[in-house]
Amino acid sequence: MVLVPSELANRFPRKVAGQFSDGIVDHVRILLATTNQGKIAEVREIMSGRLIEVAGLIDSASTEEIETGSTFAENALLKAKHYHRTLGLPTVTDDSGLEVEALGGIPGIYSARYGIYSARYGGPGMGDAGRIARLLDEMKDLSDQCRGARFICAAGIVWEGGEKVFLDEVQGVILKEARGGNGFGYDPVFFYEPLGKTFAELTSSEKAKVSHRGRAFRRLAGWLTDSGLLDTPRSDDRIVATAD
Ligand code: IMP
Repeated sequence: MVLVPSELANRFPRKVAGQFSDGIVDHVRILLATTNQGKIAEVREIMSGRLIEVAGLIDSASTEEIETGSTFAENALLKAKHYHRTLGLPTVTDDSGLEVEALGGIPGIYSARYGIYSARYGGPGMGDAGRIARLLDEMKDLSDQCRGARFICAAGIVWEGGEKVFLDEVQGVILKEARGGNGFGYDPVFFYEPLGKTFAELTSSEKAKVSHRGRAFRRLAGWLTDSGLLDTPRSDDRIVATAD
């Protein structure tokens, strides 16, 4: 079990974190301040074997009002700055989404909110199935040749000494029907040609090897190792990652 020291837990305002999903953590190196279990599992997988532990949150405030940027990189840094200010800790964030070429990059930075204003797809309480239904409706007249898309991930870090963002992407094709039960979000319709499967048909370690998140976070992890930021951690040196 991963433990968080009580003095660290106490510094998290209730609106940011009510409770840590793994309990109290005493040696966490990356705290993923998100309730998105898909992202937590993936970042854990990507960081495994790097002496960087990842813990997630049970409660997390919506970051919608913080995400006012016009790019993934901007939003990743806006969130990182917000949590760095709020928590007083070095902060890592994930901002990610899907861009469909024939739709001019939609849903893009609005991937999490896509379809939220339409009761037909579930309204404010909509889930991944509603988002996928909306996407497939928008793309219903597009031929197989015009269904190219990419996932993009911006992994940002803000600490007392500065800020950095690592961007990466993966190319795929949007299928006409969902396939597979793993992953989250748009994974069931994102077909990854080199492996002949959708992301939802991959195991978490297979996805981590090729995904936008795997690529961006491996670059961040490499930089973190080289930067020395993780070398002599004190209790207030811990890295906080937010991925909402
Ligand atoms: P964010 O929480 O603002 O970064 O929004 C990310 C949204 O993009 C998620 O809610 C998903 O809908 C979508 N997304 C990002 N990464 C993935 C992925 O790896 N698989 C499927 N959907 C993803």
